[in-house]
Amino acid sequence: MAPPSSCILLLLCLGMLCPHPGDSFPHKTTCTIKEGKADCSHMNLNNVPPGLPPDISTLDMSHNRLKVLDPGALSRYPSLEHLDVSYNSIMGLGPGLCDALPRLQHLSVQRNQVLHLTATELRNCSRLTHLDLSDNRLKLIGEPFSVLKSLTWLDVSRNKLITAGLGTKPQLPSLVTLILSGNDFTTLKTDDFSFLSSSPSFRVLGLSSLPLKKVEHGCFKPVSALTDLVLDGCNLNTLLTKVCDELSDTSVRNLTLRSTLQTVLKNITFKGLLKTNLTMLDLSSNKISKIDDGTFQWLPLLESLSLENNNIKHLTKDTFMGLKSVTQLNLQKALVKTKAAYPIIDDFSFQPLVKLEHLFMRDTSFRDITENMFAGLPSLRTLDLSWSKAGLKTISNTTFASLQGSPLQVLNLTRMALTKLDPGAFSCLGNLTTLVLKYNFISQDLTGEEFRGLNSIREIYLSLNQQKISLTHRSFIHVPTLRVLMLGRALTGTLDMEPSPFRPLTNLTVLDLSNNNIANFNSGLLEGLYHLKVLKMQHNNLARLWKDANPGGPVLFLKDTQNLSVLELDYNGLDEIPLKALRGLFHLNELSLSGNLLNYMHGSIFNDLQALRYLRMEKNLLTSVLMGTFSVPLSNLSELHMEHNPFDCTCESIQWFSDWLNSTNTSVPERTSSYICNTPAAYFNRSVLDFQTNSCKDLLLFQGLYTFSSTMVLGLMAIAFLVHFQGWRIQFFWNIAVNRTLGMKGSRYEQMVEDRYDHDAYVIHAPDDKPWVERSLLPLENENFSFFLEDRDAVPGQSTLESIVENIRRSRKIIFVVTEALLNDPWCRR
Ligand SMILES: *[C@@H]1O[C@H](CO)[C@@H](O)[C@H](O)[C@H]1NC(C)=O
Ligand SMILES: *[C@@H]1O[C@H](CO)[C@@H](O)[C@H](O)[C@H]1NC(C)=O
Ligand SMILES: *[C@@H]1O[C@H](CO)[C@@H](O)[C@H](O)[C@H]1NC(C)=O
Ligand SMILES: *[C@@H]1O[C@H](CO)[C@@H](O)[C@H](O)[C@H]1NC(C)=O
Ligand SMILES: *[C@@H]1O[C@H](CO)[C@@H](O)[C@H](O)[C@H]1NC(C)=O
Ligand SMILES: *[C@@H]1O[C@H](CO)[C@@H](O)[C@H](O)[C@H]1NC(C)=O
Ligand SMILES: *[C@@H]1O[C@H](CO)[C@@H](O)[C@H](O)[C@H]1NC(C)=O
Ligand SMILES: *[C@@H]1O[C@H](CO)[C@@H](O)[C@H](O)[C@H]1NC(C)=O
Ligand SMILES: *[C@@H]1O[C@H](CO)[C@@H](O)[C@H](O)[C@H]1NC(C)=O
Ligand SMILES: *[C@@H]1O[C@H](CO)[C@@H](O)[C@H](O)[C@H]1NC(C)=O
Ligand SMILES: *[C@@H]1O[C@H](CO)[C@@H](O)[C@H](O)[C@H]1NC(C)=O
Ligand SMILES: *[C@@H]1O[C@H](CO)[C@@H](O)[C@H](O)[C@H]1NC(C)=O
Repeated sequence: MAPPSSCILLLLCLGMLCPHPGDSFPHKTTCTIKEGKADCSHMNLNNVPPGLPPDISTLDMSHNRLKVLDPGALSRYPSLEHLDVSYNSIMGLGPGLCDALPRLQHLSVQRNQVLHLTATELRNCSRLTHLDLSDNRLKLIGEPFSVLKSLTWLDVSRNKLITAGLGTKPQLPSLVTLILSGNDFTTLKTDDFSFLSSSPSFRVLGLSSLPLKKVEHGCFKPVSALTDLVLDGCNLNTLLTKVCDELSDTSVRNLTLRSTLQTVLKNITFKGLLKTNLTMLDLSSNKISKIDDGTFQWLPLLESLSLENNNIKHLTKDTFMGLKSVTQLNLQKALVKTKAAYPIIDDFSFQPLVKLEHLFMRDTSFRDITENMFAGLPSLRTLDLSWSKAGLKTISNTTFASLQGSPLQVLNLTRMALTKLDPGAFSCLGNLTTLVLKYNFISQDLTGEEFRGLNSIREIYLSLNQQKISLTHRSFIHVPTLRVLMLGRALTGTLDMEPSPFRPLTNLTVLDLSNNNIANFNSGLLEGLYHLKVLKMQHNNLARLWKDANPGGPVLFLKDTQNLSVLELDYNGLDEIPLKALRGLFHLNELSLSGNLLNYMHGSIFNDLQALRYLRMEKNLLTSVLMGTFSVPLSNLSELHMEHNPFDCTCESIQWFSDWLNSTNTSVPERTSSYICNTPAAYFNRSVLDFQTNSCKDLLLFQGLYTFSSTMVLGLMAIAFLVHFQGWRIQFFWNIAVNRTLGMKGSRYEQMVEDRYDHDAYVIHAPDDKPWVERSLLPLENENFSFFLEDRDAVPGQSTLESIVENIRRSRKIIFVVTEALLNDPWCRR
């Protein structure tokens, strides 16, 4: 009996095809090879695969099941420079690795089971510069690293090493960086680093997360050229002073002491650092609550100090004493409010920081901004007070008076629970370029006096202010230099005023009026803003302003903003776009109209948008996408969003768009899933891409034939009628045409006609005019003209009528001598 097919499936699964349950990464089945790099990670491999190109320079074997590094298998790839075997189960490197890979430079054996390491295993690794042995169980046998003459970077973190000394005799002559973090040693002994005493390039020592208890005298002596020391996460509560003493006379410049359980900094803590050139000190994430006056007096060369995330209660005018080179001070979350009280920052606390340029006080608590709090910062350029809790509600004309002497350029007052800006609030900040007032509760009429004195301002951010700010036509009268004005979700009241509040801002390039429920303004709103590039007006209520039926016609507020590059009008209830609304926007790059009610679009509304790169019209009521309207804006697009419209999948409405969608290189997210036909029933709920445009081609042929045959029938009928009723006329014109065409001078035909005439002209005149004829016309006969005169030349006997007809026929022209007498002549009347 044959086994049930599910059994076969199970067997196949167990064999190889199915992913192993429990593996966190989906396993690949082949290595990816690109530009000399082979990536064989996450493949469940037990050995190095044999079939790779022999000249690869990089091989990634991480996250596999290697147990040994087989030199035989590796020797197929003698050009390897980078080998990554991290996250395997390797117990030992084995001898001859570098004999197989003579060019090896980078070797990563992180997170394996390497236990014993000997010099034999690293022999001939003369080119190795980078060795990562972190997260193993190393036990060094002898002096394994002594053979690595080129090594610059060595990581032996988290190996349960019980000593920092990786050797006894000097070795590793090229080493720059040594990382010993997370090992088990508790003491830095005097001669631990003596193995680095002839490593002149040595600079960086990583000693994070060590259970240090003791630092012996002279331990840093052998590495006194080091510049960066990282002691993050060590418990240095009682040890810091000693560490600093030991660092005396070293070249240390960067010292990071994050999370080292400091609580109090004493005025002698950093004394040992006086004889260094320390420039960077990071004391973040400690529990420092008290800093003695003069603590930093030993650090005159310090440039960057971080006290981020501490618990400081009080800054005095002497806290920062002596820090005369600091340019950057990070006090983010350094002062924290407790139940009992606000921390205090004394007047003149920052005065010693004569070179301070950037002061970060984000999320810091202090009682108040006092009169002289920021006094004496002659170099300050950035002040970040965002999220800080200062119990400040109103910015008065004295709040920032202490910054009078600072060339402050950026002031960040985000989310400070401000409610009011007094007149002259920023009048001392003549050099300010950027003022951030986002996420506050400012609620007032802006009279314009609030911004008085901001003579250099370029950017004002007032967004997200609870929509309680109303504008007047003077609101920005003092800040004509403004380039960026953000008023999203900030405004209440009307913008329908003359002149517009924005009229003074002739250099404005970015204006955000989004999320304000604006429903009314006049066409002068953006008058004169010739440089405007970005206009954000989404989430307002502009539908009526663009209706044809609007009294006075649609409000064409974009007529002056011809340099516009980004226009956002999403969610405005728009159901019409006036024919001329987007005229002249030749530079428009991005147009957003999503979430409106747009259905029918005038043929040419987008015709000027040749530069469009991004078009968003998703979630409208578009049924058709016609070539006449969309061929220009879609011609050079990088991204289109038009999904979630109720497309009408008929030849007239969608054929062109379906073809475009099918063949375009433009990025169209959700192309296959979200462009869905709504009508007709045959295509309901199917993708626009499924629309059979071939059927339109048949239809087109049919239409063509129909047009052709009906034209033929009608044409023939018309000709028949014409011939029947107007045939003589056609014949007549035909003859004339033929005569004209063929009537070339001197031709035989002309000669024949010529022979027909006996007279040049037949003269008709009334008898009363005979004297005038004889006097004026007859003399011309002497000049080779011949006339026929009835009473002179008529052949006697011939009937008068016959004679007239015959002689007129024989005359080239007829001359009527039209006078009153002729018109009264009975012949003529007849
Ligand atoms: C590797 O080192 C050994 C001795 O340490 C030496 O005999 C051998 O020639 C070296 N091999 C290569 C390829 O350099
Ligand atoms: C500090 O820098 C100066 C000048 O660059 C140098 O002469 C001096 O040796 C340095 N001091 C230390 C302890 O490295
Ligand atoms: C020392 O710190 C400064 C400032 O943070 C940084 O620019 C520099 O790269 C650091 N030096 C080293 C060797 O990491
Ligand atoms: C350190 O502070 C103590 C008092 O707290 C003072 O007596 C001592 O002089 C200060 N030492 C220095 C170097 O400022
Ligand atoms: C600050 O405002 C007060 C009134 O609120 C006024 O008397 C004073 O003159 C103003 N000071 C400056 C410098 O404008
Ligand atoms: C503001 O900048 C100008 C030049 O940019 C400078 O002359 C002036 O001193 C600065 N003002 C302050 C208060 O530093
Ligand atoms: C102002 O502060 C906010 C919040 O900390 C931050 O997101 C924003 O980038 C800052 N703006 C400037 C111009 O520094
Ligand atoms: C607008 O910008 C131009 C060019 O940058 C500058 O010359 C002019 O002074 C600015 N106008 C105002 C009112 O700032
Ligand atoms: C577009 O901006 C440029 C300068 O940015 C300006 O010279 C030009 O007048 C503006 N064009 C229009 C049509 O306003
Ligand atoms: C299409 O856009 C690209 C990128 O902006 C631009 O370089 C190219 O000139 C545009 N082509 C046309 C025909 O406008
Ligand atoms: C376009 O559609 C046709 C058939 O409808 C299909 O054969 C062709 O591959 C499609 N082209 C693209 C680029 O999707
Ligand atoms: C899409 O790109 C390919 C190759 O870049 C090009 O051959 C093809 O003409 C492009 N199609 C369209 C519709 O631009």
